[in-house]
Amino acid sequence: MMTKPPAVLLAAALFAATASAADAPKPDPEKGAASFAGVCAACHGPDAGGIAALPTQPRLARQFPEYIAKQLTEFKSGVRDNAIMKPMASLLSDEDVLNVAAWVSAQKTAPAAAAPQAPEQAASAEAPAQEAPDLKLGERIYRGGIVGRSIPACSGCHSPNGAGIPAQYPHVAGQFPEYLTAQLTGFRDGVRKNNTIMTDVAAKLNDREIKALASYIAGMR
Ligand code: HEC
Ligand code: HEC
Repeated sequence: MMTKPPAVLLAAALFAATASAADAPKPDPEKGAASFAGVCAACHGPDAGGIAALPTQPRLARQFPEYIAKQLTEFKSGVRDNAIMKPMASLLSDEDVLNVAAWVSAQKTAPAAAAPQAPEQAASAEAPAQEAPDLKLGERIYRGGIVGRSIPACSGCHSPNGAGIPAQYPHVAGQFPEYLTAQLTGFRDGVRKNNTIMTDVAAKLNDREIKALASYIAGMR
């Protein structure tokens, strides 16, 4: 008769433990690695470090898992509207999203040393000499913003070295400049609508400032 209450309590405790574990399964990076190799590696690189020849497809390595999961969920729902990523993200269950995010964020592939984009490439004979991105301007805005136009310093949220601040403010250092330009332009022009902070920040930037920022950030390590 003394055994009954403890046994009931124990059963209840076990049930509670299994029930909460089932609610929030621990992400399994190995399963994530398998999904990634099967579907994602072709565009984001086998090590999630991106593919230099395809610079509009972002590097994912070193990114925070919460940010990766947010983007994948929003590609699925269309909150982040992208025709390429919607069908890709839709292949993943909610559990797969967490598994892939866990694997990706554990990849530490550093970008190749060659960036930032050298202005020399515009020097070809037929191309009209394109204005080279102004790295000093990029650095100035990144670190200090533009006070007179209420543009905040990027470093306040993305950290002084571009490593971001977990979990909300993504890692941006070393990202492809083409991808960065596309995102900043997308936020500004209402193509990427999944974050009002960034829409407000980008709304005030002109093309020259966006290119300068993209080049500066791409060269950060
Ligand atoms: C056919 C090429 C392709 C495939 C395959 C692909 N992606 Fe993408 N991915 C892209 C492109 C292009 C973008 C940039 C979208 C944009 O410009 O908004 C992107 C963006 C992303 C982003 C957003 C990154 C950021 O910094 O915001 C994540 C996360 C992502 N992909 C994960 C995945 C995962 C996980 C898979 C596999 C299930 C996958 N992708 C498969 C092309 C691809
Ligand atoms: C007040 C905080 C804040 C400031 C200041 C800020 N950002 Fe962001 N930024 C964010 C957040 C939050 C996100 C993630 C949006 C999301 O969840 O999709 C983001 C996303 C981005 C992205 C997309 C990253 C990716 O992988 O797709 C880029 C690029 C970016 N910011 C650049 C900048 C630049 C350049 C500046 C300065 C001109 C800046 N940010 C200033 C908060 C900020």
